[in-house]
Amino acid sequence: MVSYKSKSVERISLPSREERERNLQQAQYNVFNLPADAVFIDLLTDSGTGAMSDEQWAALLRGDEAYAGSQSFERLESAVSDVMGFEHVIPAHQGRGAENVLYGTLLGDTPDAVVPNNTHFDTTRAHVANQGAAPVDCPVPDAHDPDADEPFKGNTSLEELRAVVDDVGADQVPLVIQTITNNSAAGQPVSVDNTRRVREFAEEIDATFVIDACRFAENAYFVHQREDEFSDATIEEIAREQLGYADAIVMSGKKDGLVNTGGFVATNDPDLFDRCKQRAILYEGFPTYGGMAGRDLAAMAVGLREAVTETYVADRVEQVRTFGSLLADVGAPVYTPTGGHAVYLDAAEALPHLEATAFPGQALVCALYREGGVRGVELGSFAFPDTDRPELVRLAVPRRTYHREHFEHVAETVKTVLENSGAISGLEIATDPAIPELRHFTAGLEPV
Ligand code: F0G
Repeated sequence: MVSYKSKSVERISLPSREERERNLQQAQYNVFNLPADAVFIDLLTDSGTGAMSDEQWAALLRGDEAYAGSQSFERLESAVSDVMGFEHVIPAHQGRGAENVLYGTLLGDTPDAVVPNNTHFDTTRAHVANQGAAPVDCPVPDAHDPDADEPFKGNTSLEELRAVVDDVGADQVPLVIQTITNNSAAGQPVSVDNTRRVREFAEEIDATFVIDACRFAENAYFVHQREDEFSDATIEEIAREQLGYADAIVMSGKKDGLVNTGGFVATNDPDLFDRCKQRAILYEGFPTYGGMAGRDLAAMAVGLREAVTETYVADRVEQVRTFGSLLADVGAPVYTPTGGHAVYLDAAEALPHLEATAFPGQALVCALYREGGVRGVELGSFAFPDTDRPELVRLAVPRRTYHREHFEHVAETVKTVLENSGAISGLEIATDPAIPELRHFTAGLEPV
């Protein structure tokens, strides 16, 4: 059941087939290079692309733009305290700004550190590496099996975690991260029980435990549905319990903050707060605005409270599930169970004639645009070179934006692409940027 209606709308249109082909060529077969008005249904990301509520738009008008001590910051502080349980908040311009502040602070003193995470998102991986540390993924074995029917495929593998520490020694592991939901493992949720165990382990090795909380509300909904201990708890209670195990969180407000920009670090540790503040001033701005306009702080304060309301988050996750069913109904190889913010397709299964070196995921992304003006994103061997990942294509769902008819169009598009899949050719990289972890954003490709 949908618990909102539209008050403002934006026109979209489908360019002709010839225009779509020309656009792809001009974009060098990298859909990050497409102009947004050439895209009909934009499923590139759920990050900052959703619709704000009227309450959030009202809050924008009341934004306090004071450089220091803004009231909008106070509203954000109290929302973070009520919803997430942390007293100290350091705003940042978006999630990766928060990552720079927190990981720069925590990793600066340990040369050659090793940082385990259930799975690093690409900016997290790049920020950890940027501090001279080695990011290591510790997913559970089912995470990369698109067919395993398990409730918490986003969990951290305690065995892998222990193996990493046994290998390099606890002194080299000053930080353990857990990402909820696990974006790079098909948006799969993490159980509270798993978070608790990772916390205990981090304590045992005297490491700081950080949760990447970008999609904490969606994760809490899955916990409510799937973890017996929490079937009677509210989304807010679950969120506070799960986040409460962390020493600090990094947050991109562009996800479950329900805003178009912004992020923050939050903690209850006064010493860590103080150290982060110093770095935040250097990179983000004075710690009561951190690179955000006062009005955006105000909208995020409202968004965080909306994100944990039962009706909002149920609509949200169930819409993504329905989208997954529409795709499965047309025979698409859908990663199951569907995750919180996106449906992931297995491109290796969709295009079995293409080797990993011909980037089947990117070929599928281009085919979806060519056929139906649909923009998704590759999260396989093009985005993650040298890692042993499945060839996934992510169709991310912006929050409160598209309706069933839009998803039906995407399903029709996928159906037609699959019917003609043998004709889809592979791609090779024509221009390769300097930072390998980030190459998929800007590399140019050409058909082979
Ligand atoms: N951590 C996770 C788990 C993310 O998914 C993202 C962003 C970030 C950190 C960085 O946040 O974009 O505000 O700087 N994910 C987006 C995506 C970009 O498309 O999944 P940011």
